[in-house]
Amino acid sequence: MALAISVSKEMRPHRAPRGVRIDSVTPPPTRFPTRFPTWSPTRSPTRSPTRSPTRSPTASDKTHFEALQLKKAIDTQIKQSPDINTSEITSPRRGSVAFQSSSVALGIMTPSILIVGATGNTGRAVAQTLPKLLQSSSTLSGYRVIALTRTSSSPVARELAKLPGVEVIEQNWVEITADWLREHQVARAFIASQPEPNQFAEESTFHLNALNAGVKYVVRISTTAANVRPDCPAYYPRQHWAIEALLGSPEFDNLQWTSLQPNIFSPFVMSPAAEFIKRYRKTGEQDTLRLVPSENAPIGIIDPDEVGVFAAHLLSQDDTSTHNKAKYVLNGPEDINGMQIVAMVEQHIGTPVKDVSYKDVSFIDMLYENQYAATKQSKNVIYSMTRAAETVWQGKCSTSTTSKEVLKLAAPKRTPADTLKALLED
Ligand SMILES: NC(=O)c1ccc[n+]([C@@H]2O[C@H](COP(=O)([O-])OP(=O)(O)OC[C@H]3O[C@@H](n4cnc5c(N)ncnc54)[C@H](OP(=O)(O)O)[C@@H]3O)[C@@H](O)[C@H]2O)c1
Repeated sequence: MALAISVSKEMRPHRAPRGVRIDSVTPPPTRFPTRFPTWSPTRSPTRSPTRSPTRSPTASDKTHFEALQLKKAIDTQIKQSPDINTSEITSPRRGSVAFQSSSVALGIMTPSILIVGATGNTGRAVAQTLPKLLQSSSTLSGYRVIALTRTSSSPVARELAKLPGVEVIEQNWVEITADWLREHQVARAFIASQPEPNQFAEESTFHLNALNAGVKYVVRISTTAANVRPDCPAYYPRQHWAIEALLGSPEFDNLQWTSLQPNIFSPFVMSPAAEFIKRYRKTGEQDTLRLVPSENAPIGIIDPDEVGVFAAHLLSQDDTSTHNKAKYVLNGPEDINGMQIVAMVEQHIGTPVKDVSYKDVSFIDMLYENQYAATKQSKNVIYSMTRAAETVWQGKCSTSTTSKEVLKLAAPKRTPADTLKALLED
C-alpha cells in the first residue's frame, strides 16, 4: 500500500520522505570565528606586555601576560553572554556556566548549543541554519554547535559533518546525563524526540538533566496545537502536553524553554499524491488515492525544514527571555484540503483520478504490523494515533492559527505545491 510507505515520522517511526534534500541548502560560507582563543604558552601576544625596560621578557612573563589578556577576553565574554548568571562570575559554583566559562581560561572549551535529532526531519535544518545565524550574534558567535546522532557514519550525519561550524557527536540522546551536558558545556539545546509510548519518560529525563546541568534554554518540538491537550484521544499529543506542563512547573523555572507546535509535516500529507503520480507515469494505472485530509477542511501543512529554521532563529537570540514558556503554532504559508490535492494530482497526470479515499488512516495497519506487533506496546495505545487527524477534519488546523512570532522571525514559505514538486524530483 503506497500510503504506508509515505507516512511521516510522527505516524511512522521509519524515516519520512523529505521534501528537500540536505544538499539543497546552502551552507554558511565560512567557519564561524571562535571568540575564545585557545591558550597556548607559545602563542605570541597581540600587543607587547608591560614590563621593566631593564630586562628582557622571560617565558614566564610572556605566559603571564597571555593569561591576563585571555582572562580579560573571557571576563568580557562572560559579562556579555546571555546564558551566564553574572552573580556567579566572582565566585562561580563548580558546574555552573560561569565556572565552565572560567575553565575556558585554561584553554579547555567554549559553550555549546546542542541539537538533539540533528539528522531528522526538523533537526537537520537547525544544524544547517544555526552556525550562520550565530556568526552575526554579538554574544553567541563563539558558541559551538553540536549535532547529535547515534550513527556518525550515516549519510545524513556525514553531510552534517561537512557543514562549517557543526561538530557531529555520536551519542544516543536518551542516554545523556547531566554530567555529559556539563562536559560538553551545553548552554542551549534543541530537541526533537520520537513520539513513541516512552517519549515522556525519555524527554523529561533530558529536561531534568538539562535543568541540573545549568542549561539555560531549550527549544523543543511538540505537535499540532489543536491536539496538545490532556484529553486528546491520540496518545502522543498527550505526552507533548505533559512535557510542556512539566517545563511550565515552578521547579523548572531556571530552564527557559519554547515549545514549537507544528502542523502535520507536508511530506506526510503530500507523499501519497506523489506516489500516485509516479506510479501512473510509470504504469499508466491508477490505485486508490488515499488521503488523510478530508475533502474540505483546510490544513496548514508545513515543511519540517522550516520548523527547523524557526528553531534556529530562536536559539540564536541574544535574549531568549521573551520566548520563555512560549508555545508557538507553526503552519505553512497556504492551506490545502483533500479536493485541492486531487486537483493537483489530476493536473500532473492529465486525467481524472478515479478513486479517492478521504480521511484515510489505513496506514496504521501496516505501521502496527511492521513496527509494533512483535513488541509489548499496547495495540490500544498505538491505534489511538489515527485519532490525531480528527482536529484536522474539524477544520481546527488551518494557517489562521499561526503565531505572529513565527511570521516575524522566520515566516514559512514552502507551499504544498513546492512539496509535491520536490517529492516528484526525489
Ligand atoms: N511527522 C509529523 O507530521 C509531525 C508533525 C508535528 C510534530 N511532529 C513531532 O515531531 C517530533 C519528531 O521530530 P522529527 O520528526 O524532527 O524527529 P525524527 O526525524 O523523528 O528523529 C530525529 C532523530 O532522532 C534519532 N532517533 C530516531 N529514533 C530514535 C530512538 N528511538 N532513540 C534515539 N534517537 C532516535 C534519529 O537520529 P539518528 O538515527 O541519527 O540518531 C532521527 O534522525 C515528534 O515529537 C512529533 O510528535 C511530527
